[in-house]
Amino acid sequence: MLTAPPLSLYVHLPWCVRKCPYCDFNSHQARSALPFDAYVDALLADLEHDLPLAWGRTVHSVFFGGGTPSLFPAAAIDRFLQGAAARLRFAPGLEITLETNPGTAEHGRFGDYRAAGVNRISFGVQSFDDGCLRRLGRIHDGADAEAAVKLAQDAGYDNLNLDLMYALPAQSLAMAERDLELALALAPAHVSHYQLTLEPNTVFAARPPPDLPDEDLAWDMQERCQALLAAAGYAQYETSAYARPGQECVHNLNYWRYGDYIGIGAGAHGKLTLGAAQSIRRRWRVRHPTAWLATAGGAPALGGDDAVEPAQRPFEYMLNVLRLREGFLPGDFEARTGLPRTAIQAPLEQARRRGWLIEEGGRILPTALGGRFANDVMQLFLPESGTGPSTGPERDR
Ligand SMILES: C[S@@+](CC[C@H](N)C(=O)[O-])C[C@H]1O[C@@H](n2cnc3c(N)ncnc32)[C@H](O)[C@@H]1O
Ligand code: SF4
Repeated sequence: MLTAPPLSLYVHLPWCVRKCPYCDFNSHQARSALPFDAYVDALLADLEHDLPLAWGRTVHSVFFGGGTPSLFPAAAIDRFLQGAAARLRFAPGLEITLETNPGTAEHGRFGDYRAAGVNRISFGVQSFDDGCLRRLGRIHDGADAEAAVKLAQDAGYDNLNLDLMYALPAQSLAMAERDLELALALAPAHVSHYQLTLEPNTVFAARPPPDLPDEDLAWDMQERCQALLAAAGYAQYETSAYARPGQECVHNLNYWRYGDYIGIGAGAHGKLTLGAAQSIRRRWRVRHPTAWLATAGGAPALGGDDAVEPAQRPFEYMLNVLRLREGFLPGDFEARTGLPRTAIQAPLEQARRRGWLIEEGGRILPTALGGRFANDVMQLFLPESGTGPSTGPERDR
């Protein structure tokens, strides 16, 4: 039996000061004054369009992602949150995150976001090294990042995430360690530590930097940084996510546990379980901000609306839950896919035989080896027909 899981709300704000050469998110350089008011009106219309699919359900987290949401003034964020809270039931004290580029931080801004209800800030720091930041095309230097985090802390934020990337052009092991040490000195609640990847259709993919660290060095950086994070009291709970106890990201955890989310804004993706119809739907919006703005609230704003067929669900489920150190309970697999556990018995058995997954206290967890061969593990759960799987929130990129 499919049972509706917790529900989150993802809000995509698609503009940036400048497009970074490694980035394949749906983000666009702002070339003129941004239409903040029109965008908020369109978000609320877009939300109304999805309400019939989520009627009566409670929202457990809100995430403003981008792009650079911190380009939006607090008054626009406030108006959106008030409008959303009038249309949906918000859980008391729900997590509300706003992604921030340190190059857009200004004095006073964080207090206003806080007053609007934002209680978690995620900073795109990437590195504190000015040479690395220049190579990444960032609009800020290391001192700006440190100052931005302190501004947020002075405004009363204690639930902060810092995004760092490693395996950067010309980066040595000592430089990667130094970045992490500087991040930890700011005592964030959460660190996201991503290996730089060359994504198709980016400047870096077309012209890869010649001095990227090789795989062995990237692996050493990851291992060394994992050890530093563990020693500082940050537990790794997902492939790239580390948190102090109890400060894991509620919103991202819901994605990885194959929860539900409404996705609104240009190019945003949503996934909703319809208990009565025993179906799972994925909906996404047209990507270009101008096209989306012109159509939001109506069917033409939809880039697509698909049922997730039962045959696709085991792969989708594993793609998400196997990123988590906690793995999953077979009962949750049944509730969230609507399939019996026998549907994955054969691939589970294969993964166990290869030492990729183990069963512990009733949960199924990836081993260290399984973590290293994550793609191979997930391939075992692909439908035999090879039906094109959808990949979840990553598709907001
Ligand atoms: C939407 S951005 C965060 C907010 C803001 N746009 C910024 O960059 O400051 C999400 C994060 O994804 C990570 N990211 C983006 N492109 C990446 C890539 N090619 N490889 C690894 N991590 C990447 C960065 O750490 C980035 O902060
Ligand atoms: S990494 Fe962030 S700031 Fe850079 S283009 Fe992508 S979304 Fe914009």
